[in-house]
Amino acid sequence: MNDLLYLQDTFGISGVEFKELAPCYPVIYIVNGFSDACIALHGAHVMSFTPKSHEPLLWLSDAAIYREGKAIRGGIPICWPWFGDHPDNCLPAHGFARNQFWQLVSIVENIEKETVVTLTLSDSEMSRAIWPHKFTLEVTIAVGKSLSVSLKTVNKDEKPFSITSALHSYLNVGDIQKTEVFGLANVFYRDKLSNDQVFMQTGSLHFDRELDRIYGHSGDDEIRVSDSTNTREIVVGKSGSQSTVIWNPWIDKSSKMTDFEEGGYRHMLCVEAANTCDCNIVVEPGESHTLATIISEADKAL
Ligand code: BG6
Repeated sequence: MNDLLYLQDTFGISGVEFKELAPCYPVIYIVNGFSDACIALHGAHVMSFTPKSHEPLLWLSDAAIYREGKAIRGGIPICWPWFGDHPDNCLPAHGFARNQFWQLVSIVENIEKETVVTLTLSDSEMSRAIWPHKFTLEVTIAVGKSLSVSLKTVNKDEKPFSITSALHSYLNVGDIQKTEVFGLANVFYRDKLSNDQVFMQTGSLHFDRELDRIYGHSGDDEIRVSDSTNTREIVVGKSGSQSTVIWNPWIDKSSKMTDFEEGGYRHMLCVEAANTCDCNIVVEPGESHTLATIISEADKAL
């Protein structure tokens, strides 16, 4: 039920408001003591997250399209049950979880006074036609000083299934050319722009062209993004993830995407907690796997 009155009556708590971005396309606006956020029921998609009196931590395209079946450009799309292109190219890139409405289960305030939103998605006739497995996905989003997103996959089938996935976070940076990424030195990566050749990262990452890489990085070290134009450091932690994807489409590629605002590549950087095809996850019947990311702004030294 995506009716606004029903949603507000059933799930509304202090600081939570439902609005429609398009007819029958509800989003949850959250304002609490730490931050504000917006979450779409479509894709269980965190669209924005802004700590109080700070710049937004997530980038959202001004040209994003709010329509069932189309993933929102920006925020945190959930890529599942496959990451990237499907081998049979007729199926949607990055899976189907980001392209449909999820079921809102609850909105509560936890003991730390964060607002916690839970949504689920289960298999349907449509999903089984393209991915023949029974599953439940549960996403838990905690909006506080930091933003944490946790995606639990439960196998409801009688046989194991295998997934790849990503929490495809679009970080908001002041100027990509003045942005630097730390925490990936000496990590091997597969370069999607060089026929998937494998290289080792030396030092930090700087950006002056398109970049699309999958790092074999399990997250023991946090990724730190120096957003020098906004005089801050964004910290990305993760768990249940064997790879980190770093992506910026730069000028040519972004200008070909109708939902990518002009010049938007300058203000975004994707740092994605993922499990890509190098490390697909097998989930046994009745078992589960959880992929999570936590995004925050580092405290400034006094
Ligand atoms: C990244 C991939 O995760 O997502 C890129 O590494 C891809 O290759 C990008 O272009 C965006 O994908 P989409 O389907 O949202 O345009």
